[in-house]
Amino acid sequence: MPSNIPQIALNDGRTIPQLGFGVWQVPDNEATQAVHHAIEAGYRLIDTAEGYNNEEGVGRAIRECGVAREDLFITSKLRNGAHAFDQAMAAFDETQRKLSLDYLDMFLIHWPVPEQDKYVDAWKALVKLQEQGRVRSIGVSNFLPEHLDRVIEATGVVPAVNQIELHPKYQQRDVRDAHRQRNIQIECYSPLGSGAVLKDETIASIADKHGKSVAQVILRYLLDQDVIVIPKSTHAERIQNNIDVFGFSLDDEDRKKIDALDDPKNGKTGGFPETMNSLF
Ligand code: A2P
Repeated sequence: MPSNIPQIALNDGRTIPQLGFGVWQVPDNEATQAVHHAIEAGYRLIDTAEGYNNEEGVGRAIRECGVAREDLFITSKLRNGAHAFDQAMAAFDETQRKLSLDYLDMFLIHWPVPEQDKYVDAWKALVKLQEQGRVRSIGVSNFLPEHLDRVIEATGVVPAVNQIELHPKYQQRDVRDAHRQRNIQIECYSPLGSGAVLKDETIASIADKHGKSVAQVILRYLLDQDVIVIPKSTHAERIQNNIDVFGFSLDDEDRKKIDALDDPKNGKTGGFPETMNSLF
C-alpha cells in the first residue's frame, strides 16, 4: 500500500494499516465526502459498521475514489441483533451489498451482548465467511478477556483484533497483557475520547511545545504503543491533520505526563461491554 503509514502484523498472516479513518456518527449523506477527504489525505483503512447506517455512503466513496481496491482496507461490523448464525450470514450479505464489495478486509462482532449470549454463534459465522474468502481477517470489538476465551475455545480461531475504546483518559492498561498473550492486536476506537480529551490542558501544553495539535499528540502517543488508531472527523483539515503524525516524536517526559492522565473509573466515554445489550 502507498503512504508512510506503518503496517501491523495480524495473527492470520495479513497486515492492517496502523492508522485508519473511523466513521462512527457520520451520517450516510456525509460519509461519502468524508471518506473521499480521508482517501485523498492518504488513509487506506476505512472503518464502518452495520450499526452506523452509513455503509452505502462509504461504499460510494470506495467506488468513486480511483484507488485500487487491493490498496484499501475496509472494515465493517456485525450488528447486535444478528448474532444467530443464519442471521449473521444474512447480515454480511447485506453489508456486502451496501458497500458493493466482493470481499471485506475485516469483519468484526460489534459487541458481545452478554445478555443475549449468542456471540459464539456469531463468531462461527465469521469463521465461515473467512473460509469462504468473503472476508480476509476476522475479529471482535468491545470484548472482555472472558469473551475472547469463549470464542477461541469454541472454534480454535483467535480474533485478529479487538477494537476497544482506548485513549489517554481510558488507557485499558489492565487488558494489554491479555491481548499480547493471545496474539490479538488492539484497535483503539474513540482515540480522541470522542473529542473529550482534546480539551486536556496537559496535552495542550505538550502540543504547544512541539508545534502540533492536541489531536496529533494524542495519536502519536497511541501509535508509539503499537496499537491501531481510527480517529474520526468530518472536517477535511482535521482529517489531514490527524494523518500528519509521522514526522515528530514525543519524549519520555511527555509520555509520562500523558500516562498519568489515565482515569479508569471516569474516563470511559462510550458503552460498557458488560451492559451494552441494545439489539441494533
Ligand atoms: P469533527 O468530526 O466535527 O471534526 P474520536 O475519533 O475519538 O471519536 O473523536 C472524534 C471527535 O473529535 C469528533 O467530535 C471530531 O469532530 C473531533 N476531532 C477529530 N479530529 C480533530 C482535530 N484534529 N481537531 C479537533 N477536533 C477533532
